[in-house]
Amino acid sequence: LYHLFVDGHLPKGATVLGVSRTKMSDDDYRNYLRDFAKEIGKPYDEKQWAEFAPLVHYHADDATNVESMPGLNARLKKLADAHQTGSNRLFYLSVAPHLYEPIINNLGAGDMVTEGKAWCSTDRDHPTWQRIIVEKPFGSDPETAAHLNRVIGRVFEEESIYRIDHYLGKETVQNLLVFRFANTIFEPIWNREYIDHIQVTATEAVGVEARGSYYDSPSGGAMRDMIQSHLLQVMAVVAMEPPITMAANDMRVERNKILAATRAPTADEVPRMAVKGQYGPGQIGGKSIIGYRESEGVHPESQTDTYAAMQLNVDTWRWGGVPFYLRSGKAMTRKLTQIVVNFKPTPHLLFAEKRGEGGARQCNQLVINVQPDEGIRIRFSGKVPGLGTTIKPVVMDFDYVEQFHAEPPEAYATLLLDAMRGDQTLYKYREEIENCWRIVQPVLDYWDENPQSDLPNYAAGTWGPSSSDIMLAQHGARWHDPRQMPRGKR
Ligand code: BG6
Repeated sequence: LYHLFVDGHLPKGATVLGVSRTKMSDDDYRNYLRDFAKEIGKPYDEKQWAEFAPLVHYHADDATNVESMPGLNARLKKLADAHQTGSNRLFYLSVAPHLYEPIINNLGAGDMVTEGKAWCSTDRDHPTWQRIIVEKPFGSDPETAAHLNRVIGRVFEEESIYRIDHYLGKETVQNLLVFRFANTIFEPIWNREYIDHIQVTATEAVGVEARGSYYDSPSGGAMRDMIQSHLLQVMAVVAMEPPITMAANDMRVERNKILAATRAPTADEVPRMAVKGQYGPGQIGGKSIIGYRESEGVHPESQTDTYAAMQLNVDTWRWGGVPFYLRSGKAMTRKLTQIVVNFKPTPHLLFAEKRGEGGARQCNQLVINVQPDEGIRIRFSGKVPGLGTTIKPVVMDFDYVEQFHAEPPEAYATLLLDAMRGDQTLYKYREEIENCWRIVQPVLDYWDENPQSDLPNYAAGTWGPSSSDIMLAQHGARWHDPRQMPRGKR
């Protein structure tokens, strides 16, 4: 919100009310937030902060207690009168998962959601709105997610519900839509005729650090934390059909069709279609990292997956027979979110090529760096200058910062502004979430029923367990090694 303010995007009169149980004054809260503003993204500017801080207020109460609602409502009305903002309200819940239900019920029971109902507004000419942003984790299995959807649906209309997934707000994920649908040259080859397989990777170079007790809970683990949410959404954007328009519903329908068409593995298939990993001690960037099981709040014999990989099949006309490989892990070699589209080899081999590792043919590859080093790279074969015909892979490079001379905006800034404007395009629709749970649940069930004796099975600072390489090798594929395609010079 501070970044939006600095860039002049925060709507006039917008105010923020932080609600929590801890007793604090408005000023205590502002000072507490200032430390974050200093740390994140843009350079901190004392003058800008001094203008932003008075927009922020604080209210100490327990929102799970329905009796706290009249006080909260009165405080919101007072702020709205002071800033002349009427009753447009955006509730944002970033709370422990078990608190969603009581808080949402209380917002309803406490008359906090009187408008925002598209079809029965009390002021048809100037309808006001009350919207809600719900953070992940959105449920911890298909049943709890469906239940939460019903709980929210009893209080807010679908048009007012914003299920956030910050990966959809990342600039490069949005750029993927432009790349695919604003150009003629890529879409004709974006299918099973030309694509061999697609990889989506999201790795982090940190362990669980202070989040051990959350991560080791039933809501934690890489499959739930990353694959069920962020990676499946990214996959849907890669695979979706062109929408009729860029309007929220048209986009969400197309993303959901891909998720609906994604086959969940059967219990028999899980061992060869999914991989679970957990990191042991190791070194990342010269720094020693303790093993996951030694982290605070983690059970010493924990079975939690700090790494998960999965092979998926999307049963559509376009994607029949094209595997999608998703992987995510903590405490790995480096932080990287990347989509790699691997094309099929040429039908006829005319030239002697330089082979890659293990003698593999180096086919065309399109690499989309979601973060860091945002950009797109294409690998193709080129002739080495000189006599004779020696073929070598070369890289064509689009670097976001170099081209646009700007750093991409924070995903959260983009998404919060969208919610204020009423644009749900980058937010998840009810069915998308339920489909994502349907896809991963058989793996989670299998892992619950079959504890693994080989954990931890990768050292911190590596690319994960060897079983993950074996999963791809079954299909003659291998995980993309980012060192093979270094960035161009900036
Ligand atoms: C969150 C996960 O949703 O995404 C975290 O809960 C993870 O475990 C984070 O660290 C990664 O986000 P980003 O934007 O840093 O890739």
